Amino acid sequence: MAKALITSALPYINGTKHLGNFAGSLLPADIHARYRRQIGDETLFICATDEHGTPAELAAAAAGQPVADYCREQHDRQAEIYRRFGLSFDHFGRTSSARNHARTQHFFHALDARGFIAERVLDQVYSPADGRFLPDRYIIGTCPHCGFAEARGDQCESCTRPLDPTDLRAPRSALSGSTVLEVRPSRHLFLRQSALADALEGWLGTRRGWPPLASSIARKWLDEGLQDRCITRDLAWGVPVPKPGFEDKVFYVWFDAPIGYIAATEDWAAEAPDRRDWRGWWYAAGNVDYVQFLGKDNVPFHAVSFPATELGSGEPWKTVDVIKAVNWLTYEGGKFSTSRGRGVFLDEALDLLQPDYWRWWLAANAPENHDTDFSFARFATDVNNDLADTFGNLVHRVLSFVAGRFGGIVPAGGAPGDREVRLARQLDGHLSALRSAQEARALRKSANEIRAIWRLANGYLAEAAPWTAIRTELDASALATRVAVNLVACAAAVAWPVIPGTAETVLAAFGLATAPPPLPGTAGEALDRVPGGTQVKIPPVLFARLDGEWVAASRARFSGRAPGAGREA
Ligand code: 2FM
Ligand code: ZN
Repeated sequence: MAKALITSALPYINGTKHLGNFAGSLLPADIHARYRRQIGDETLFICATDEHGTPAELAAAAAGQPVADYCREQHDRQAEIYRRFGLSFDHFGRTSSARNHARTQHFFHALDARGFIAERVLDQVYSPADGRFLPDRYIIGTCPHCGFAEARGDQCESCTRPLDPTDLRAPRSALSGSTVLEVRPSRHLFLRQSALADALEGWLGTRRGWPPLASSIARKWLDEGLQDRCITRDLAWGVPVPKPGFEDKVFYVWFDAPIGYIAATEDWAAEAPDRRDWRGWWYAAGNVDYVQFLGKDNVPFHAVSFPATELGSGEPWKTVDVIKAVNWLTYEGGKFSTSRGRGVFLDEALDLLQPDYWRWWLAANAPENHDTDFSFARFATDVNNDLADTFGNLVHRVLSFVAGRFGGIVPAGGAPGDREVRLARQLDGHLSALRSAQEARALRKSANEIRAIWRLANGYLAEAAPWTAIRTELDASALATRVAVNLVACAAAVAWPVIPGTAETVLAAFGLATAPPPLPGTAGEALDRVPGGTQVKIPPVLFARLDGEWVAASRARFSGRAPGAGREA
């Protein structure tokens, strides 16, 4: 049996995430993890909050809380939201955990011992007004590459290039806004990525199946010539640097965060040490297929920096097999903005509608090949067509008919004919296309095949019309009803990775309550799951239709709060 290791990019601790963050990594990773469980793969799905670095410090300062308290609270809040969204993590950890501190320091020692760490004195931006150095996001200015005026000192949000604070033009302090900045020397440690370029090149050459977005960004980084990367910071909150002379520094958040994938697995194993072995997933691990899910801005760190850390250690760490990266989700024609509170945040989304509405739309419209715009109007149209009219309606028509005409018992009798043979052939085609799409982690294609199976079921029902046949040919009506019931069960099982809560409600109506519901391999299997004589219940209405008024009200509610009324720092 294959072992599937799946990680989602670790969400920053600084506040509730929005639909864009959800669509970029958490949801695609969850859908893939569920699919792998559904086909019987031994699956481990790991995530954690990314708690170090300037995002955490700045947000805690804005909230007026000690950073450790802030992180604990925000971690619990995010964990609860993801649970409500149906994210099926095996473990949702924290990069501030003791094991991540230890594992990060371990990697540092291993890299240092092999000569891949260099000490250099750097000119760092110092703010006399703030009485401190201003690393990373403590400094804001104009991106030298694309001219974006609000670029942060660690990365430009607009062109995604990693930056150093000294790269910025017209810099100012993110704390005080002061533009009176000095450059002072400070001693730092570098990961000598340049010395690992050949190893990385060789490693990248053995990776297969990456979407073009991920492989082209990785290639660009290698082709431009790998720069050594500063892995320490003049900050107080983070993993301490275990080297004399560096007592007042911590590791750069991007050094310890990906190591957090490993440490969170160690935390997971520590909960049941007799049954769980983290090494079997990460260390000299054979037969593990490791897929990372992330937004495009994270690619350089996962395709270059983290593999450099792992390969440079000289130890047999599991490296990623496939990076599934996606583009941006935009919001009503512009950017989601955390600081301006623009867009829909996950807690608000759950106040509006149950998670499967969002999960479906964000998977069916995943920003895979280009940026994709979320608008309430498009959202409502798709929800009405796909979820209410196609899937919800199918379930209700079939199950109410069984209840009304067969006393809630799936009827036996009737022998399959040409219509069923044709149906089975078409269903086989969609089931195999769905598997290929899911194997390739292609979200839109998978949703298309799921929708096609729903439509096929509706088409069969309309054609076989058991409500007409029941007047004259009881056997024909029984057959059509039983086939339709099985199509409903199949429609729910194939959709389970995307809309798990709803799929489980539907399957429970037949007493098929196992999670994960097995993915039918063939039409023969799919159409034979619910035999005649099975008692079925009618589930409550699954999806409401969203009308124009709902669209207008939602758009008005989320069109952006006043500047400065952001939800988090
Ligand atoms: O971009 C982000 O949201 C980062 N917090 C992702 C970190 S992924 C990993 F390496 F930890
Ligand atoms: Zn830029």
